[in-house]
Amino acid sequence: MTVEHAAELLRSARHGIAITGAGVSAESGIPTFRGEGGLWTKYDPVKVASIETFMADPASYWQAARERATAVLAARPNAGHVALARLEELGRLVAVVTQNTDGLHQDAGSRRVIELHGSGRTVACMTCGRREPRADVQARLDVEMPPRCRHCGSMFLKPTVVLFGEAMPAAEVQEAYDLAERSDVVLVVGSSLVVYPAADVPLAALRAGARMIVINAEPTPFDRLASVVIHGRSGEVLPEIAALTGA
Ligand code: OAD
Ligand code: ZN
Repeated sequence: MTVEHAAELLRSARHGIAITGAGVSAESGIPTFRGEGGLWTKYDPVKVASIETFMADPASYWQAARERATAVLAARPNAGHVALARLEELGRLVAVVTQNTDGLHQDAGSRRVIELHGSGRTVACMTCGRREPRADVQARLDVEMPPRCRHCGSMFLKPTVVLFGEAMPAAEVQEAYDLAERSDVVLVVGSSLVVYPAADVPLAALRAGARMIVINAEPTPFDRLASVVIHGRSGEVLPEIAALTGA
């Protein structure tokens, strides 16, 4: 059985890493970007999530971001996040590299989390650099659109996430590649694996000789490269794998 095979690979891992995408948070009520019901089936990402559009019209960015942030700010970790934290505790994973900006891995107890696309929990002023919690900015969107910096009045207040057209954080990218190059097992969960360079991290692990496990609701371009492929919901599959791995 594939769940057993995945657990067997993880039991033998000395330097396992997980790479996660939006799918791991779907069962926490946060819509994914692609796939069934994904955000990008409703919005054009270049229009609502590029730095160019943000600079031209921060209000249009915030209008779309507001809807998504309501779900994100209310979300709690699901059984999939908890299982990944458990695998780290068991010593079978050394880190989680994530494309997610929701902070749910940390909430679930994962200790080493590398956020390739930044964090949506903080907002920074592009003019004066001041930061404030996303929840505080979210709370005033009803009366202020676009939201203004409390300190300098600038209208360029941007969540500390990577938008299309922006560079990824160099230190995190380096750390992800370093982890991938030393890994022996790479567990890829809930990612469509079409956004680069994030999708290159599991490929770097493969080049280093790691075995790959893919857990995703739908087929991915990397399925044929994996030792184990499980098409299912991460909140159901990961707890089974963690239980078998720890048994
Ligand atoms: P996507 O939305 O592209 O892919 C999510 C994947 O998760 C899809 O293949 C779904 O089939 C799958 N999925 C949905 N529910 C699931 C569940 N319960 N269990 C397991 N899998 C499930 O998300 P990412 O690959 O993370 O970029 O997207 C990558 C980047 O594209 C994001 O980080 C974001 C977006 O534009 C930036 O913000 C820079
Ligand atoms: Zn400011």
